[in-house]
Amino acid sequence: MAEVRFDGRVAIVTGAGGGLGRSHALLLASRGAKVVVNDLGGTVEGTGAGSAAADKVVEEIRAAGGEAVANYNGVDTWEGGEAIVKTALDAFGKLDILINNAGILRDKSFMKMEEIDVDKVIAVHLKGGFNVTKAAFPVMRENNYGRIVMTTSNTGLYGNFGQANYGAAKLGLVGLMHTLKLEGARYNILVNTIAPIAGTRMTATVMPPDMVEKLKPEYVSPMVAYMCSEECTDTGIIFTAGAGYFSRAVMVEGPGIALNAQKGITVEDIRDRIGDIKKLEGAQPFGQSNEEIARIVAALNA
Ligand code: NAI
Repeated sequence: MAEVRFDGRVAIVTGAGGGLGRSHALLLASRGAKVVVNDLGGTVEGTGAGSAAADKVVEEIRAAGGEAVANYNGVDTWEGGEAIVKTALDAFGKLDILINNAGILRDKSFMKMEEIDVDKVIAVHLKGGFNVTKAAFPVMRENNYGRIVMTTSNTGLYGNFGQANYGAAKLGLVGLMHTLKLEGARYNILVNTIAPIAGTRMTATVMPPDMVEKLKPEYVSPMVAYMCSEECTDTGIIFTAGAGYFSRAVMVEGPGIALNAQKGITVEDIRDRIGDIKKLEGAQPFGQSNEEIARIVAALNA
């Protein structure tokens, strides 16, 4: 089988100055993509800024014979998103791939969390995903081609103590994906989500050092690169990746029960049937909200 290649493709990787983003950028560039290495260059908490992180990765790509340019805008503003996409257009004349990866952490128990911890984390992760994708989408639509990757987290999917702000922002990106998969389909814009696990400066705050060392970002990037490839025809899928483990995570709804609404439904009806309501045997995912609404409305005729 032929190699998966990105020759002639232009990619933006946000937050590519280190960690997972750097690894994604290096892999895409090694397979022929021209890459915009975006990074604000601040701290894990989202303070400060600088050009060194993005510049270093651009140098690494060029040293390996690849093509890349740096961009230092924050993803957390509308203008930042536009400027990042403009960098791709100015340098390479088009845009095919967007990996929304930039991120920060401001972990605290919910009791101690302050407004700034919520605002900053939502601004970088959730609004950041909006800002860059909003600027990229019309360009991809014009070309009738696009591959967009959102980066979620198992915190958003399943919960983690001390990460209320982060989990809410990260699951928001899944909601964004589910609408964009519908709005992008006609234009060959496919939108998928990665839920990674890797040792980076971000996870160094919560993982023991040997684990950080072992869980290499390079073990995640092949999945992300596949999601950005022409070969990928999926859209609206959450893939998990880390340490060589790969899987699909999905939102499902159980088969449920249908009570007779016309006869009136009491709290006791719910109490008596709660076990059946919660059952997941026979659970299924839905392609879009209308499919789920159709099932609900069908209960009227049950
Ligand atoms: P990292 O801290 O090494 O990389 C994040 C990069 O984003 C940094 O280089 C940082 O400078 C950049 N950045 C921060 N704010 C920015 C902004 N406003 N604009 C542009 N760039 C900005 O962390 P890591 O682990 O590589 O994280 C990458 C993504 O993966 C994040 O979205 C993170 O939430 C997500 N993630 C990582 C997991 C892991 O196990 N490492 C687990 C689940 C999700």
